[in-house]
Amino acid sequence: MNQADDWANFVKKYQALSGIDLVAYKRPQMERRINSFMRSIGSRDYVSFLELLGSDREIYRRFLEHLTINVSEFFRNIQQWEVLEKEIVPLLVNERPGLKIWSAGCSTGEEAYSLAILCREKGIRLQDRILATDIDNEVLEKGRQALYSQKAIDGIQALWRNKYAVAENGQYRISEEIRRMVRFEKHDLLRDRFVLDQDLILCRNVVIYFTEETKLTLYRKFTEALRPGGVLFIGSTEQIFQAKELGLKTVATFFYQKER
Ligand SMILES: C[S@@+](CC[C@H](N)C(=O)[O-])C[C@H]1O[C@@H](n2cnc3c(N)ncnc32)[C@H](O)[C@@H]1O
Repeated sequence: MNQADDWANFVKKYQALSGIDLVAYKRPQMERRINSFMRSIGSRDYVSFLELLGSDREIYRRFLEHLTINVSEFFRNIQQWEVLEKEIVPLLVNERPGLKIWSAGCSTGEEAYSLAILCREKGIRLQDRILATDIDNEVLEKGRQALYSQKAIDGIQALWRNKYAVAENGQYRISEEIRRMVRFEKHDLLRDRFVLDQDLILCRNVVIYFTEETKLTLYRKFTEALRPGGVLFIGSTEQIFQAKELGLKTVATFFYQKER
């Protein structure tokens, strides 16, 4: 079997095992991550690695964690949160008093809790709890636990941190009033249905791992999921080149509004 067949076979078998479709992700990046993981556990070929993934839950779990790159931060790229608060939220609340917000690819919850804190502090009303979704059950569970290190919560400004992060055995738990504002759910952006009629969708630092074709499909689906006038907020290394043809207009850098 040549290398291309090897890879194709791995992708097919891994999808059967996990439901995750690696075809949609950028291959060189994925291959590098997979190979480095295989090296770290002393696995030399895809066939024996797949066997191990099928039989050892711990390896399966660690591999998924390695593959999905779960780094997140509270108020990541703070300047954009200021734009969100001062320019975008006023646009949205003018049209609908209670907002529907979705943090897609939420990882361990920092983004969703940042949103909840902002809403609580600025009196932004919600129609429903903030929906926080990810493909990885483990990060979702961490999000529900809402327990973070001192370094992590340093991303929250002091005034808000003192109100909403409660010390607990050397770590900090996000307070119950903020936790109650967020609902974590498992959702695979490549397979599952999108919840419609959203005012604001955050999908930041997630599509960077996908192929151009998959990115476009996702941006199309995010646009469909927004209500007319709703806004998509993306990561600070990202740009939607096809915004116009998708029916989106740029309202600020990294913010795209669905045309009415
Ligand atoms: C780098 S984190 C981004 C976290 C957060 N949005 C931020 O910007 O801080 C990327 C997340 O995307 C998730 N992810 C990757 N593929 C996904 C998919 N197909 N569906 C849903 N989430 C996915 C990963 O599990 C990971 O938690």
